[in-house]
Amino acid sequence: MLQVNDLHKKFKGTTAVNGVNLYLGQGESIGLLGPNGAGKSTTISMISTLLTPTSGDIRFKGTDVFKQPDVIRPVLGVVPQEIALYEELTAYENMKFFGQTYGLSGKKLTIKIDEILELVGLTDRKKERIKNYSGGMKRRINMAVSLMHEPELLIMDEPTVGIDPQSRSHILEVVRELNRRKGMSILYTSHYMEEVEKLCDRVYIMDHGQIIASGTKEELKSILSSEDTILIEAHQKSDQFIDQLNENGRIQQVVKVDQGYKVIVSKGEDLFADIFELANVCQVKVKGVHVQTPTLEDVFLHLTGRKLRD
Ligand SMILES: Nc1ncnc2c1ncn2[C@@H]1O[C@H](COP(=O)(O)OP(=O)(O)OP(=O)(O)O)[C@@H](O)[C@H]1O
Ligand SMILES: [Mg+2]
Repeated sequence: MLQVNDLHKKFKGTTAVNGVNLYLGQGESIGLLGPNGAGKSTTISMISTLLTPTSGDIRFKGTDVFKQPDVIRPVLGVVPQEIALYEELTAYENMKFFGQTYGLSGKKLTIKIDEILELVGLTDRKKERIKNYSGGMKRRINMAVSLMHEPELLIMDEPTVGIDPQSRSHILEVVRELNRRKGMSILYTSHYMEEVEKLCDRVYIMDHGQIIASGTKEELKSILSSEDTILIEAHQKSDQFIDQLNENGRIQQVVKVDQGYKVIVSKGEDLFADIFELANVCQVKVKGVHVQTPTLEDVFLHLTGRKLRD
């Protein structure tokens, strides 16, 4: 359905997208996972034909979207990273406005609005102005307006950043429903790997304008088949401890995480004794040490030496 071939975008002084290749099959749900500044939004803007690439091409059902934007525009829904709603209008009025711009009117329009309000769970709040909505509710309506014309392909740019857990799980449910039940094709962008793991059939990991790995979750995790991730639970954050861990020749990588420290080691290395000894030297109180099954976050860590979120 969608093919992105060797896409580049240079801004003055910055190469935002540096040779991206990706594809999306009909009815598929793919994730584009990458840290801040990776080039996700720039890639999406080009797929949406809002931005012209420096080089490369994008094909929708075989047609070049820059030569014929009309092949993609009418069937594309985009949920932008920034909220794009009229604050002074109610949710209902926003949906009516966006529905009309897609050519809906009369009974068809009102039925569609009611259906989508139900889907995003805001029927009872439809008469309130957007400016009085919570951040999570705004995000749900931001998504709702992009669904008014029943797009074949829905692109979502970090739709759950900074919102309450209830709205977040609601948005994830809706995306799953649209994909699994209605067969809508989805390109989902995020730096929350748990979301991408839940929602997407295949994942592209992006960093510094490039796709650094792609495949199913299982394929990506198999990159780590020769390594173990060990979580060291500890409250104190000690740079000395990190230095000491790094100096241990059998440890490949060390990062600070919320619960303590994560280290990547070759599979089967028994480092528990070393870890406790170093912690003792650095006066770090360790609450627990666990070998973990790898996550996509660990794959990213392995590939870049950094965390997805700082
Ligand atoms: N219009 C622009 N002019 C100049 N530089 C830009 C422009 N848009 C994006 N960039 C730069 O391109 C790079 C990629 O930005 P982009 O917004 O695509 O990243 P992102 O992956 O969406 O990040 P985030 O997760 O923070 O939204 C960044 O270095 C950014 O500063
Ligand atoms: Mg972005």
